Amino acid sequence: MAANWKMFKTPAETKTFFASFLPLVKDTTGCEVAICAPFVDLPEAVSAAAGSAVMIGGQNLYWAKEGAFTGEISGPMLKALGCTWVIVGHSERRQYFGETDETVLRRTKAAMEAGLKVIVCVGELLSEREAGETEAVLRKQFEGGIAGLTAAEFAGIVIAYEPVWAIGTGKTATPEMAAEAHRVIRGLAAERFGGAEVRILYGGSVKPDNVKALMAQEEIDGALVGGASLDAASFAQIVNFAS
Ligand code: PGA
Repeated sequence: MAANWKMFKTPAETKTFFASFLPLVKDTTGCEVAICAPFVDLPEAVSAAAGSAVMIGGQNLYWAKEGAFTGEISGPMLKALGCTWVIVGHSERRQYFGETDETVLRRTKAAMEAGLKVIVCVGELLSEREAGETEAVLRKQFEGGIAGLTAAEFAGIVIAYEPVWAIGTGKTATPEMAAEAHRVIRGLAAERFGGAEVRILYGGSVKPDNVKALMAQEEIDGALVGGASLDAASFAQIVNFAS
């Protein structure tokens, strides 16, 4: 279960979150938990999570290791801070910051080289779903952004299927719709990487009250949670969905 805090929380709010969240998940088993926080919150998050099973991640990175790239953050910097994960290719990055399948691939490779695990996001727009293009969009994003990885790199990623129309809108894909898209992605992975196993998260308005039905689908391995991850009790309920 991964939290994507987007551009929310200060370091002080991060500290408060962990003080409430950690006791609620200290007995959780069978579920990896990662919190992807804004860059400025990462030191606080890493130190708050130390000694717990909760892992910390960034929400983006640049592909160069260092250099004259004002405003950017590199993989080695995230790693040095104590991050385990990084999100790459979130639809908000694609939509507002010009991210393309090609830059998704470059960022993913750079993250792996820095020793980070990567959550690579894919997903269709509402207009694409309505035009019956969901599968074609997933294929294009997979072929442009993930198929260029080596088999060893592919083993280090988790894919997040996030239909753009379901993000922050309160409209969740039905468990069946999500599972169907996950099957498409798994098929693409099998075509390119043979029988390689890959975990696929669903993202888009996941909440405590719908997580169980989503997780009941064999194809869905976890969730990438935005809005509902900002509240400690609500994200803990999602993490503890099985109990
Ligand atoms: P949401 O965001 O849970 O607020 O819909 C999910 C995401 O963008 O990762």
